[in-house]
Amino acid sequence: MRSAWASSTVDRPLEAKASGEPMVRLRGVKKSYQTARGELQLFDGLDMEIGAGELVAVVGQSGSGKSTLLHLLGALDRPSSGEIYCASTSVAALNAKEAARFRNERIGYVWQFHYLLPEFTAQENVAMPLMARGTDRAVAMTEADRWLSRVGLEMRATHRPGELSGGEQQRVALARALVTKPRLLLADEPTGDLDATTAEMVFGWIEELHREQGLTSLLVTHNLELAGRCARVLRLERGRLVEASQELRHS
Ligand SMILES: Nc1ncnc2c1ncn2[C@@H]1O[C@H](COP(=O)(O)OP(=O)(O)O)[C@@H](O)[C@H]1O
Ligand SMILES: [Mg+2]
Repeated sequence: MRSAWASSTVDRPLEAKASGEPMVRLRGVKKSYQTARGELQLFDGLDMEIGAGELVAVVGQSGSGKSTLLHLLGALDRPSSGEIYCASTSVAALNAKEAARFRNERIGYVWQFHYLLPEFTAQENVAMPLMARGTDRAVAMTEADRWLSRVGLEMRATHRPGELSGGEQQRVALARALVTKPRLLLADEPTGDLDATTAEMVFGWIEELHREQGLTSLLVTHNLELAGRCARVLRLERGRLVEASQELRHS
């Protein structure tokens, strides 16, 4: 049977690197929410390009829309207007089914809280995105094991999340995000719930895997020291995105 996906842009190979096109492109992205007090205009026309392989920190005050921005890029939410491209995929144009597949194939997501499933082992948690796409369980579990080893947790494969430290939980979450070999890593305050030393260590893993896996990564963080280690820093303020790399280097 011919798949409903045959004509979807998601099925086309991503050629951003070869063609020199940016991996992420936002054009005039507006986002507003209806609230009891009327319309809250959060984004007033965001324009942004992120090249393949860039590691970009996103900073901004609480409530400035950092999480919303990642949700839009990860097809978890839609803009009110404007265009969002991830390589050749028009993210805002995906229907619900396409968006689910886009997330599974193209996006690795890490949050402040690990959101690992408590009843399952670390290995099962990491294997889950592969099983969701129909990969044979044995193959998925082997791949999960390889990823746990990659983040130094081969001895924790059979632990449940409650039997892991905060830093270990985030490393499992990182392995789960990357087991599907995504192109884009979206990390929303991944070190926000960790002490300074553990935050530094988890950030180190992200940096290393970003380089090794050839990822394009957006990292939301409150930690200006960690943000300053990213080659590029974007600040969300008053509904706009501004380049803030220089300002951080000099502060
Ligand atoms: N579903 C929603 N409905 C109404 N307002 C929302 C919704 N989601 C987020 N907001 C508002 O949008 C603003 C930005 O939220 P968020 O993206 O979570 O900010 P940040 O991650 O920078 O702290 C906040 O003021 C929040 O209250
Ligand atoms: Mg947030």
